[in-house]
Amino acid sequence: MKKSLFTSLGFAAVFIVGTAVSSISIAAVPAPTVVQNQGIPDGVFNNLQESDCRTCHNQNPPAGIPVNPTYLPNRHHLLVDMTIPADSDRPNPDPDGDGIPNTLYECLSCHVLEFNTSTFMYELVQNFRNCLGCHEQAAEATVHHLTALAAAQDCKACHGGLIDNPNDGHYIPTYQPSLVTPWPSGKVSGDDTVPPNSAGTFAGNCNFCHNTADGQTGAPGLNQEPTQLGSIASVYQNHETHHGTGLALADSTRCSWCHDLTQPSPDYAIRACENCHGVSSLHNITADTDGNGVMPGAELPGYSHTGAQSDCWGCHGNNGVILSAPMSGPAIPSIASMSSSTVAGGIDSTITLGGMNFTNYIRNPWTGAFDILVGSTVQLTDAAGNATLLTPASITEGMIEVVIPAATAAGNYQLTAKKGPSEGNPMNLTITPQVSISSAVCAGGTLAITGSGFNTYLDASDSGTSVTMDGETGNVTSWTGTQIEAGFSSCGGTATVNTVFGSDSASVN
Ligand code: HEC
Ligand code: HEC
Ligand code: HEC
Ligand code: HEC
Ligand code: HEC
Ligand code: HEC
Ligand code: HEC
Ligand code: HEC
Repeated sequence: MKKSLFTSLGFAAVFIVGTAVSSISIAAVPAPTVVQNQGIPDGVFNNLQESDCRTCHNQNPPAGIPVNPTYLPNRHHLLVDMTIPADSDRPNPDPDGDGIPNTLYECLSCHVLEFNTSTFMYELVQNFRNCLGCHEQAAEATVHHLTALAAAQDCKACHGGLIDNPNDGHYIPTYQPSLVTPWPSGKVSGDDTVPPNSAGTFAGNCNFCHNTADGQTGAPGLNQEPTQLGSIASVYQNHETHHGTGLALADSTRCSWCHDLTQPSPDYAIRACENCHGVSSLHNITADTDGNGVMPGAELPGYSHTGAQSDCWGCHGNNGVILSAPMSGPAIPSIASMSSSTVAGGIDSTITLGGMNFTNYIRNPWTGAFDILVGSTVQLTDAAGNATLLTPASITEGMIEVVIPAATAAGNYQLTAKKGPSEGNPMNLTITPQVSISSAVCAGGTLAITGSGFNTYLDASDSGTSVTMDGETGNVTSWTGTQIEAGFSSCGGTATVNTVFGSDSASVN
């Protein structure tokens, strides 16, 4: 078992921010260890602790990691009244104690109440902060790779369009491999005259670029790997990053997700990798390296797969000149930041997305010029899988402004940038129910409130849910999403409803 590597990664140092790319000169042979601007850093993340979880799961996650930056309590609280899946991590399956597991989440599916004998009030037991109290991890296998999504090989659900999903019907060649077929590693290039790179690897292999300079096992803090953009603390080798997920740890039938055990010949090894790294995703991993828009074929070499001719050569070896790669065109867009990941329902909200490859140019086959511009739309997908396409209000290579329409129902959504068949990494957008009082009427000390977005009540002094009238906290007798009834000592003044998502006040009639 590996020791906890994650905490010693010097986490912030792993992310290289690459902006002033154009001022740096690059050798024709790309150095091993690729830049780390897209996707998850090429690391091993084992035996995570709560603080590691919060490094990513917070409102300002590290750049380039497609984590949902919604306020974490809200992400949990939006699940109230939703259906509990079969493999749920909820700690209390039967909160009402009737012997039948609940089918919908309620406050006490996750929380425990205790009666405080000195204050004579119920309080939340403070055990709800340690992620690993509820979310499971097993040695090497992280929370993420123990999910139902990972078991179903829906790797794209979190990793997005930089990869393909196995079994989704994408193109994998079946013709006989040849001199120009890439290998994962170990291929001696047909270009005899070209020396190997600094890690001793020849072109024609994935690890010609995705490698550590010394070719040794990645050791955080020990190998400072130079990249075109500075130093990166720890880039691991491909077998370490993939095996380090723990995906196949307990189930050796899963080795075949990535290795074709029936076909030992190394000529064919890449075909199993193509289960996730299909031609259509590999040929669309590109980047703007000189600030004039993404132009696959006219970028600096060494920053992506299709930026320059020598990038093709990195995988295919045996240099030849082809202008554009088959199935390339819509460079895969990635979203790195969102101006807001939680918006209130009921009003139009404009959000700004930052990232890369939102637009790109394509070489015009007739003129040879890069004068065809393709752009992304924004796709919102709800929990049931219903997708809505939103046309951006404005778009550039690195920025999209989009209006989330008032009519969008409250809930957790997946938001992606989509360009033809290329769909980028999923971000999450939360639309909170707007708490709104339409009337508050009081008679004989009984306050009746109607409105919307009241969500659920939990009778505990610190639950964040309550109804007050001129400072007095009422004794709640009924509470639904649209109606509340509570008892007070007298009537009059202003009534306020507090829910886990927000508050609203109105004067009492
Ligand atoms: C390197 C960044 C990173 C770290 C560290 C991390 N997460 Fe995540 N996590 C993600 C991303 C990215 C996703 C997918 C997008 C999302 O749901 O935010 C995700 C998703 C999840 C999900 C949703 C899974 C599903 O089925 O949809 C859970 C639960 C979760 N993480 C828990 C944890 C816990 C617990 C820890 C600490 C043990 C942790 N994460 C550490 C990045 C991270
Ligand atoms: C799916 C599990 C889940 C459900 C259901 C749930 N909670 Fe929570 N709640 C959490 C977690 C986890 C945290 C702590 C998150 C964190 O520390 O980032 C939390 C935090 C809180 C907090 C502290 C507030 C804060 O901002 O940190 C309160 C109060 C609370 N919950 C009340 C409620 C009430 C009331 C309900 C029902 C309406 C409810 N919870 C339903 C999981 C849940
Ligand atoms: C008290 C139990 C509990 C704790 C503690 C807890 N969670 Fe959760 N969390 C849940 C449950 C239950 C779900 C819903 C999925 C399920 O049923 O397995 C959930 C869902 C999530 C999701 C996916 C939410 C979505 O959008 O659907 C993320 C991400 C997540 N938790 C991260 C964390 C992180 C990070 C922490 C620690 C800071 C944490 N959780 C602490 C119980 C908990
Ligand atoms: C629930 C979200 C989620 C799912 C589903 C998921 N991953 Fe990951 N993956 C992550 C997160 C977050 C990290 C970084 C932290 C960690 O390892 O848990 C990661 C890290 C990785 C890494 C190492 C980082 C790198 O860039 O090399 C590999 C390889 C990987 N995942 C492969 C897979 C494969 C293969 C599948 C599908 C069988 C899959 N993942 C499904 C979220 C997910
Ligand atoms: C010519 C050098 C080169 C070769 C050869 C190469 N890559 Fe890449 N690859 C890159 C660069 C540069 C990036 C962009 C990294 C970034 O911006 O984070 C990249 C990005 C990726 C990504 C996106 C996710 C990530 O972590 O950056 C995947 C997946 C990937 N490469 C897979 C492969 C596979 C599979 C092979 C072999 C078939 C391969 N690459 C060969 C240079 C190369
Ligand atoms: C998620 C994908 C994935 C899974 C699952 C996986 N591997 Fe690998 N494996 C890789 C990658 C990537 C490499 C590096 C290939 C290269 O560079 O030639 C590799 C390399 C290897 C190697 C040669 C290098 C080394 O580590 O010694 C062996 C042997 C191997 N895997 C065996 C296995 C076995 C056995 C299993 C099942 C228990 C397995 N792999 C599961 C992706 C995977
Ligand atoms: C079951 C799906 C799957 C298979 C099969 C697979 N990979 Fe990957 N690979 C991933 C995921 C997921 C990532 C991480 C993408 C990201 O950074 O978010 C990844 C990333 C990579 C990268 C980019 C560097 C990095 O670590 O992020 C390389 C290179 C790579 N894989 C090589 C291989 C090779 C070689 C094979 C075949 C031996 C292989 N992969 C098989 C899922 C897979
Ligand atoms: C990251 C590695 C990588 C890079 C870089 C790359 N390719 Fe490919 N390419 C592949 C893989 C893998 C295949 C499938 C090979 C197989 O299975 O036989 C492929 C297939 C092809 C094919 C055959 C397509 C078919 O229909 O079967 C052509 C032609 C091609 N590439 C051209 C290019 C050109 C031109 C470039 C540069 C603009 C390029 N490739 C860059 C990995 C790469």
